[in-house]
Amino acid sequence: MTDIVVHPLRRPLTGGVPVPSDKSIGHRALLFGALANGVSRIRGFSRGEDNVSTARAMAAMGAEITDVSETELSVKGTGLFGLREPEGPLDCGNSGTTMRLLAGLLAAQPFKTTLIGDETLCRRPMMRVVGPLRARGAIIEGKPHPSKADNVTAPLVIGPLPEGTHLGELEYESPVASAQVKSAILLSGLYAHGVTRFREPSLSRDHTERMLLAMGAPLRTVGPVVELDPAGWKGVLEPIDVDIPGDVSAAAFLLVAAAISEGSRVTVRGVGTNPTRTGVLEILRDMGAGLEIVARGEQGGEPVAEITAWHTPLRAGRVGGEIVPRAIDEIPIVCALAARAEGETVITDAEELRVKESDRIATMAVVLRAFGVDCDERPDGLAIRGQKGALRPAEVDSKGDHRIAMTAAVLALHASGPTRIKDCDCIATSFPRFVGTLRALGAEIDVPA
Ligand code: S3P
Repeated sequence: MTDIVVHPLRRPLTGGVPVPSDKSIGHRALLFGALANGVSRIRGFSRGEDNVSTARAMAAMGAEITDVSETELSVKGTGLFGLREPEGPLDCGNSGTTMRLLAGLLAAQPFKTTLIGDETLCRRPMMRVVGPLRARGAIIEGKPHPSKADNVTAPLVIGPLPEGTHLGELEYESPVASAQVKSAILLSGLYAHGVTRFREPSLSRDHTERMLLAMGAPLRTVGPVVELDPAGWKGVLEPIDVDIPGDVSAAAFLLVAAAISEGSRVTVRGVGTNPTRTGVLEILRDMGAGLEIVARGEQGGEPVAEITAWHTPLRAGRVGGEIVPRAIDEIPIVCALAARAEGETVITDAEELRVKESDRIATMAVVLRAFGVDCDERPDGLAIRGQKGALRPAEVDSKGDHRIAMTAAVLALHASGPTRIKDCDCIATSFPRFVGTLRALGAEIDVPA
C-alpha cells in the first residue's frame, strides 16, 4: 500500500489544471449506455477505479465496451431486456455507487447474481436499497451487518426473479437524501409493472433523472419527488453521446487548497456545476474565499464552468440543512477549509458521513487533531476551531478512504514539516492524477518506493 509524503508549501499554488471526469455521471453513462438499444459514446472518461468497476460489471453481462482512445469509450448496449447472466460474482471494488445501482438493476433480472466488494465496501449498509427493493418483490439476501442490527452488507445475492413474475409498483419515502438509493429504485422501476414514486427529504444529485430522461425513459420530477410510469412505454433506452464534465468533487480539493494558501490562485476547467452538487462552492463563498465561476454552457445535459479560487482571509461558517446533500462528498475538504478559517465552523445534519468509505466524522476528527487542529466530534458533524499558525506535521492513516487521503494532503501543505499519509492507493478510485496535479500547481509531494 502506497504512502505519500507531503512537504510544507514553499510557494503559492498557481495555475490552471484539468480534473478527472465526474465519477457519478461516469457510472451512469456506462450503466445506462449498457442498457440502451445501440452504441453510446462516452468522451472525457478518466478511468477512475470506481468507474472501471461499473464498466467491468456491465461487460460481464454482455455490454460491449471498447476503448476508442485514452479518454473515449464506446458502449454497445444489450437493450433493457438483453443482459446475460455473468459467469461469476460481480466485483464492485470500493464503489458503493456501483453496488447500489446494480442492486436495483439486478433485482429485476431473471438470473441470479452475486455482488462483492473490497473490505471497506463490505462494511457499508445495504438495507437502504435492499429494503425498498424487497418491498416491490425483489429477492435479495445480504450478509448480516457486523455492527448495525437489522442491516445487511455485501456480498449481496440477488434474484432470480421467478419466470413470469415482475417487480410491482412502489411508492417510497426515503429517510435519507441519497442519489444511490434513488437511482437503484428508478432502475428497478424501468422493469416494474406499475408506477414508481420516490420522495427524498431534500434533493440529492439528479444525474440519473437527467440522463434517463434524455434517453427516453418515462419519468418526471417535481422537486424532491421523481415518478416513473412505464405504462405505454416501449422499454427502449436511446443510446447517448456524452462528454462527461469534470468532477466538482475532485475540483473541490484544489479550490480549497488555493483558498487556504497565501498568494495562491488556481483555475479548474470544464467542471460540472449541476446545482445538486455545488454546495461546496456556496460554502467557499460564504466563508470568504475568492471565487469566480464562469459558465461555459452545457456538456451531456449538465452545466459546466471554469472555476477560479484564490486566497483571502477566511471566516468560520455554518454548514447544515439542505446544503449538506449537495456537498456530501466535500465535507472532509470543508473541514480543511474550516481548519484555516478564523473562528469556529460548525457542521451539522451530516450523519450520512458515518457510512461513507470510512466514518468520515470520526476519521476527520482524528486527522484534524493529528495536525493540531482543535475540534469536537458530534453525532451529526463536527465543530472545528480554525488555527492560525503552521499545523503540526503529522502521520495520518487514510483508512482506505480517498477523500480523507486527499484532505490530509491539502492540510499537510500547511504543516511545519513533512507529513506522511498512509494507504493512498485509494486515491485512484476517484482522482488517479491527484499527486501530479498538486505538483503541477506547485506542491512538493514524494511517493516513496
Ligand atoms: C453518489 C451519491 C452519493 C455520494 C457518492 C456518489 C452517486 O452517495 O456520496 O459518492 O453517484 O449516486 P449517497 O447517494 O449515498 O448519498
